[in-house]
Amino acid sequence: MSDNKRGGRWHGQWAVVTGASAGIGRAFADQLAAEGTNLFLTARRLDRLNEIADWLRTQRGIEVETCAADLADPAGPKRVFEATQARGIRPALVVNNAGFGLYGEFHKADYERLLEMVQVNCSAVMALTHLYLRGMVERRSGDILIVSSTAAFQSVPYHSAYAATKGFDLLFAEGIAEEVKRYGVRVCALCPGNTESEFHQMAGEPTDVPLQRQTAEEVARIGLDAIAGGKHTAICGFGNLVGMEIQRLLPRRLVSGVSGRIFRPKK
Ligand SMILES: NC(=O)c1ccc[n+]([C@@H]2O[C@H](COP(=O)([O-])OP(=O)(O)OC[C@H]3O[C@@H](n4cnc5c(N)ncnc54)[C@H](OP(=O)(O)O)[C@@H]3O)[C@@H](O)[C@H]2O)c1
Repeated sequence: MSDNKRGGRWHGQWAVVTGASAGIGRAFADQLAAEGTNLFLTARRLDRLNEIADWLRTQRGIEVETCAADLADPAGPKRVFEATQARGIRPALVVNNAGFGLYGEFHKADYERLLEMVQVNCSAVMALTHLYLRGMVERRSGDILIVSSTAAFQSVPYHSAYAATKGFDLLFAEGIAEEVKRYGVRVCALCPGNTESEFHQMAGEPTDVPLQRQTAEEVARIGLDAIAGGKHTAICGFGNLVGMEIQRLLPRRLVSGVSGRIFRPKK
């Protein structure tokens, strides 16, 4: 029996982490490395990935490979997959973490950028899952973690398209999880709430949104524990969990309205 099945963890095996150059992805890399997991790290900023890789090799004594890939490019996921194949890496865990948001009124957004967001947050997640899942099913072993969001549970005005991409991730992950569990493959959707990372600045959010933030480290730990524990969905933090459960009972329009008031631009 593999370590994966015995301990629920990935010691001595390989994990692919997308979006590993910052935020939650970097925290996944740190925590997996601390558990002795070898890492294949990808993002666009190769200089950052290589810095992280050097540090993890020295401090954790694991193997780390890096690969620059733009997941907004439809060829990006295959490039990542082929790079792992070329290095003989058959990952026991794939963390689909890369993603970004675009804050503001939808009609004012740059349409090309919106399409890139759909590509990175949805199409690349689906492509990477498709590319790695077949081998996992054949091996009757493997784990895929898909980073969705609490934004997946309701509309989020001024993050409307972003919330919809995360809704895709949640439903996709939950469906696949059910399909492949009979092959010994685990899939889990991780739903962080507001989390400390570069996300908010990259999305162009105002700095005064009145929401508490979890740390990226906490979110990554919850995600790894969830998939190792065989969960299909994990909402990060008790407050977020309660919030998601309560809003299911409320009229949808009321929930959108509250969300809209939180995110409405001040000027
Ligand atoms: N922070 C939050 O409040 C929050 C809440 C819920 C869900 N999430 C989700 O958590 C995930 C990680 O976000 P984060 O908060 O850690 O944000 P972050 O600090 O901005 O990190 C985003 C990561 O995604 C990578 N990325 C972005 N665009 C990419 C592209 N075109 N191709 C390849 N990689 C790309 C970035 O790397 P490069 O720039 O180097 O390419 C970076 O490593 C995302 O899926 C996000 O939707 C975040």
